[in-house]
Amino acid sequence: TIDFALRRSGNIHWQHVDVDKGARARIKHQTPRCVWFTGLSGSGKSTIANLVEKKLLAQGHHTYILDGDNVRHGLNKDLGFTDEDRVENIRRVAEVARLMVDAGLIVLVSFISPFRAERRMAREMFEDGEFLEVFVDTPLEVAEQRDVKGLYAKARAGKLSNFTGIDSPYEAPLAADLTLEAGRVEASDLADSVVSIIMRDF
Ligand code: PPS
Repeated sequence: TIDFALRRSGNIHWQHVDVDKGARARIKHQTPRCVWFTGLSGSGKSTIANLVEKKLLAQGHHTYILDGDNVRHGLNKDLGFTDEDRVENIRRVAEVARLMVDAGLIVLVSFISPFRAERRMAREMFEDGEFLEVFVDTPLEVAEQRDVKGLYAKARAGKLSNFTGIDSPYEAPLAADLTLEAGRVEASDLADSVVSIIMRDF
């Protein structure tokens, strides 16, 4: 692409700005974070992220939720659900999350993000301790039984292809910062445990 060619030819330079992340965060009295929720469709990622955001807001924190369904309505509306498109989906949202962390925010990212390699790539974009991976560990049977959006039924009926957990893989985290048993425990209690890891070393 033109952009790639421009960078390769050395015509794009990093522009220094004087106000930094620390200064932006200090006026908000908070430590910026990227809290990355991963899990199957219907695992409860959005519900928990939403509760976490309300709890943080009640404590006076400045937050933002990046949710897969919503980001796919705008920024990522050109992307589908092939492996390649999911990789690009995660790359873009990780970049957006990094900008938001640089702006001093606590960002809650709620995407299936099924591949370990892309979640690792996302983690590597942040400073130590800034990125927290939260595995919303709901068994496939439970998510499929809930089937809030009717997508599992469509996938089983062959009307929706590349559906995560059915004919597209989900690679569970091997070392998440927090694992939530979202099939067993109340969402509000799970949200409390997310808030506590966000507040660690705050
Ligand atoms: S991914 O894998 O991270 O790129 O997916 P994400 O951007 O989070 O989008 C997931 C939501 O899209 C809906 N949907 C599908 N999910 C999985 N597989 C297929 N084929 C698919 N088609 C549509 C679904 O509503 C997901 O929302 P959640 O909230 O995860 O249930």
